[in-house]
Amino acid sequence: MQLRSQLLNRLADGQFHSGEALGSALGVSRMAVWKHLKALRELGLDFEVVRGKGYRLPASCDLLDQETILAALGPQARAGLGPLHVMLEVDSTNSWLREQTLNGARSGTVCLAELQHAGRGRHGRHWVSPFAGNLCLSLLWRTSQGAAALGGLSLVAGIAVLRCLQSAGIHGAGLKWPNDVLVDGAKLAGILIDVAGEASGPCAAIIGIGINISLPESAGAAIDQPWTQLSALAGTTDLSRNRLAAMLIDNLFEVFAEFDSQGLQPFLEEWCKHDVVAGCPVSLQLPHTRVLGTARGIDASGALLVETTGGREERFLSGEVSLRVTT
Ligand code: BTN
Repeated sequence: MQLRSQLLNRLADGQFHSGEALGSALGVSRMAVWKHLKALRELGLDFEVVRGKGYRLPASCDLLDQETILAALGPQARAGLGPLHVMLEVDSTNSWLREQTLNGARSGTVCLAELQHAGRGRHGRHWVSPFAGNLCLSLLWRTSQGAAALGGLSLVAGIAVLRCLQSAGIHGAGLKWPNDVLVDGAKLAGILIDVAGEASGPCAAIIGIGINISLPESAGAAIDQPWTQLSALAGTTDLSRNRLAAMLIDNLFEVFAEFDSQGLQPFLEEWCKHDVVAGCPVSLQLPHTRVLGTARGIDASGALLVETTGGREERFLSGEVSLRVTT
């Protein structure tokens, strides 16, 4: 285990630890302890330093822990889970897992990170992921269905996030096609799917999910769209990120297993029930053109239906379109 992870493990009990005690437990100098803690502070870790007592993490600091997540998983996820990687920092959990996928990682491999230096959103956007501010999770799912089925998979991933939030007591969340999770028009969670494989035949999907938990003001200021976070929503004050991670993994395994055997059909009604865009005026940005119209839900394959201003109903696939609700 890397020294920084070992340090955090020692501090995770919320008690004071002197630099000397930490150093001797980890076989490094007091100065080295301070250097690493300072680097972690620059990444956004909040901790107290008291002369004569040492260092202490705030009681509210809720770091991700592999064993706690594993212990909270339900039977279906336990049976299907590959390795569960919990990292302190990474460029992007999706990029990291994509590399592992190309090196033969097994279906069901999951990785989480406290901090992403280059978190990625859809359409080349940056996903703001300060230390412990989000839940950043990626799951590798190998499917015998070709890449053509992945539009549906992306919608189903949205349902998994929604169900996870519902289990956590958040009932006002909705879905914006293809898979943004919104509360009162503000984005709470986003999903990015990377694909490795063929258009037909077996392929691997890397499903990356970011849920805003509690972002420092400076990080929030860098988000270029209306957003919200779990800490701002009623009823979530004592929600542990480890518990949330386990609930998300449980829901992902449940919906993907059903999607693999039955496709999108069993999810259509639930998806449409939470569709927050249906009936709204929308603007769709395609690679070379913009389409205006009114959203009319989705079809059986998960394509977005839009009644264009010309009065025709057209369908759009998620890979090619960026959707905005207009007023
Ligand atoms: C979006 O709404 O634009 C998608 C955001 C997806 C963010 C998650 S965070 C975990 C995973 N790793 C990434 O780099 N991106 C996804």
